[in-house]
Amino acid sequence: MILCFATNNQYKIQEVAQLLGDNFKIVSLQEIGCHEELKEEQSTIEGNSLQKAKYVFERYHVPCFTDDSGLEIEALAGEPGVHSAYYSGSRDFDANIQLVLHKLGGITQRKAHFKTVITLITADTQQQFTGLLPGSIIQEKKGTNGFGYDPIFVPDGHAKTLAQLTLQEKNKISHRSQAVKALINFLATTNR
Ligand code: IMP
Repeated sequence: MILCFATNNQYKIQEVAQLLGDNFKIVSLQEIGCHEELKEEQSTIEGNSLQKAKYVFERYHVPCFTDDSGLEIEALAGEPGVHSAYYSGSRDFDANIQLVLHKLGGITQRKAHFKTVITLITADTQQQFTGLLPGSIIQEKKGTNGFGYDPIFVPDGHAKTLAQLTLQEKNKISHRSQAVKALINFLATTNR
């Protein structure tokens, strides 16, 4: 079965294609002739994930899935959420981290989670798969691995930030890998 992974991130495509095995041929947006930037206009991660999948399925008539992720901080009412990538107004990871630390100021309740929502749409199904990684935001950056908010996020039950873990260690617990596993499980059991 041909499935479009509606992302422009080649690394994510390779990773998921490898996990899905030979029953599924994963194609990119470019391979289905979609060269536009997919719009993310919703106020939730779930909404943006669905908007992108619906757009691709309705316009290109190809079974597809999308992913959308972000960091939600309890004391900031779920921010940065859908604004995670451009929270400070730019994609600069450090500027985004500094804004989060500034907004948290003297706040001691620093619980947060990373969330990934994958939306799958085929001719006969529409499903969402969610991965959650609970943890907390520390006072200053630690570690140099990973990307985004990894240096200030310590997963529950761990003493290190995500940026102090290896990629393999992060992948074992990450929100993204949990959502991908749920998708793979669904596809394997339904064989759609
Ligand atoms: P995307 O939807 O996967 O592109 O993620 C949107 C934004 O959320 C990224 O640009 C990062 O700022 C943040 N984010 C998502 N996943 C992670 C992660 O695993 N670590 C750190 N930041 C992340």
